[in-house]
Amino acid sequence: MAIKFHQSELKFGSVREVDGASVTILADELSRKHSGVEYAVELGSFVLIASPQSDLIATVSAIRMQEISDKGTSVERRLVVCTLVGFLRDGVKFERGIERYPTVGSAGYLMTADALDSMFTSTDQTLEVGERCQRGGGKEQVLIDKMFGRHTAVLGTSGAGKSWTVASLLQTAMERLPHTRIVFLDLHDEYRTAFPEAFKRLGRKVRHIASADLRIPHWALNAEELEALFVSRESTAANQSALFRTVIKDLRRPTGQAAGLADSSISVDTPVYFSFEEFLNTMRAMDIEMVAGAKGEKQGPWYGKLSNLVMRMESRFEDPRYHFLFGDTTPPGTRFEDVLSNLFGADGSVQMTIIDLSGLPSEVLSIIVGVLGRLAFEYKYWDTDPNLLPLTLVLEEAHNYLPRSADASQRVCLDRIERIAKEGRKYGINMFVVSQRPSEVSETVLSQCGNFVVLRLTNPADQAYVRRLLPDFLAVAVDMLPYLRTGEAVLSGEAVEVPTRVRVTTPDPHPRSNDVRYRDGWSTGLPSDYSPAVVVNRWRKRTR
Ligand SMILES: Nc1ncnc2c1ncn2[C@@H]1O[C@H](COP(=O)(O)OP(=O)(O)O)[C@@H](O)[C@H]1O
Ligand SMILES: [Mg+2]
Repeated sequence: MAIKFHQSELKFGSVREVDGASVTILADELSRKHSGVEYAVELGSFVLIASPQSDLIATVSAIRMQEISDKGTSVERRLVVCTLVGFLRDGVKFERGIERYPTVGSAGYLMTADALDSMFTSTDQTLEVGERCQRGGGKEQVLIDKMFGRHTAVLGTSGAGKSWTVASLLQTAMERLPHTRIVFLDLHDEYRTAFPEAFKRLGRKVRHIASADLRIPHWALNAEELEALFVSRESTAANQSALFRTVIKDLRRPTGQAAGLADSSISVDTPVYFSFEEFLNTMRAMDIEMVAGAKGEKQGPWYGKLSNLVMRMESRFEDPRYHFLFGDTTPPGTRFEDVLSNLFGADGSVQMTIIDLSGLPSEVLSIIVGVLGRLAFEYKYWDTDPNLLPLTLVLEEAHNYLPRSADASQRVCLDRIERIAKEGRKYGINMFVVSQRPSEVSETVLSQCGNFVVLRLTNPADQAYVRRLLPDFLAVAVDMLPYLRTGEAVLSGEAVEVPTRVRVTTPDPHPRSNDVRYRDGWSTGLPSDYSPAVVVNRWRKRTR
């Protein structure tokens, strides 16, 4: 059955004024009934403006009362200010943008849910992400290629529903598409529950990498990253850095040659095995080296100059918390392709990898996120066809390691993620950047995002910042941000036809909740078999 867009019962007023994309409608009514359902003119509702040449679609951005005096008596007029967002191509299919402006006197209609649904048809190119919040608003669709082909920022106060929203979006994508490649950098170990390893409901496979099982071999780090781990930012750094690099390059050479590389193509960054212990021993030896001089032995060029560096290297090397970096000790090392398959599903064996970073020492979190970002980027870069399993990287709590003003140790991470922000699209790698403090996240990263999913946001500085990121006519929506309900989001960007407020589908299953239930905990007390010794044991072993 053909959908009728101009329901005469839903006509609510006529155009008074047209000023660019802003159209003012003088309303006879602010609500209309059709087939027993009441439709209201509300902020954010879609209206249809039937102009002689074209059916235009607008969203309500303000509703005003105006008193005028008519022959001595004062009369109230109701003005509905709308923003034009698109038109109906051939009278049926929504298209973004303004082709023609309406004429004064054109009729304004409210739209039925059926009309809205048929206007935004779902296709094999779209995913259904939730219900539009406006009454009778229908289901909201996002365009898959525009959602994943761009970077997406998911912003909102803690507890607003960011993690659930991300889980919901990705579950929907995985349900539809059998060969996704999604990598979660999970800072709070909360996503495992949302994506079980054998995800039966969706028939997909997920790899969980627990903190204790994480392996990023030290030799997969490039020189800059290794340096960031050990070299202090004190004055002596410059020539120390040169030495550091020479030694690493020499150590990489034999494995590089064994892997069939010409000497000229082996660099300090080539990802081939070297023994960290040997590296450490070389530096130790130089720190105490004596050389032959004119009058017998004298101190070598590095004598005593590497003590701090050696000490830092030793302390990391011996710290069990760093086992994930230094555990690969047998030459020729784990195969690099296996490392990458494990971390990113490089071999396509799983549709998602969740890397639990919650156990990582906080001082290296930022470097490791940078390393993981770079490895993912380079893999896609060297896998020359970007369409071969494009990769989505989910960065949770981004303000922690992608701060606006980074110090030197955070620079490593920022450089790498900013590179993905700027160039990732070309190579088939995109990011979901999740943060509760958008005003503190690198501007370079956020400004490269083509889609915004904004949940409740209460901090005024963050609201002001988000207002700048979103199109002007969403100002109304931004005003609503502090009042959004949990799980409600304003969607804006290339993936949606028109920015809308959406109640995001509840994920099934959902992420582990971080909300601690005090009422329950303090009501029930400890179980009878509880023992603090168990906690202490876990603490010492560092396994949760
Ligand atoms: N779409 C949703 N549907 C129903 N409940 C939700 C939804 N999103 C969030 N919630 C509720 O809000 C809580 C916090 O959500 P969460 O995603 O962990 O917030 P954030 O990541 O922003 O801190 C969840 O534990 C859940 O109870
Ligand atoms: Mg969260």
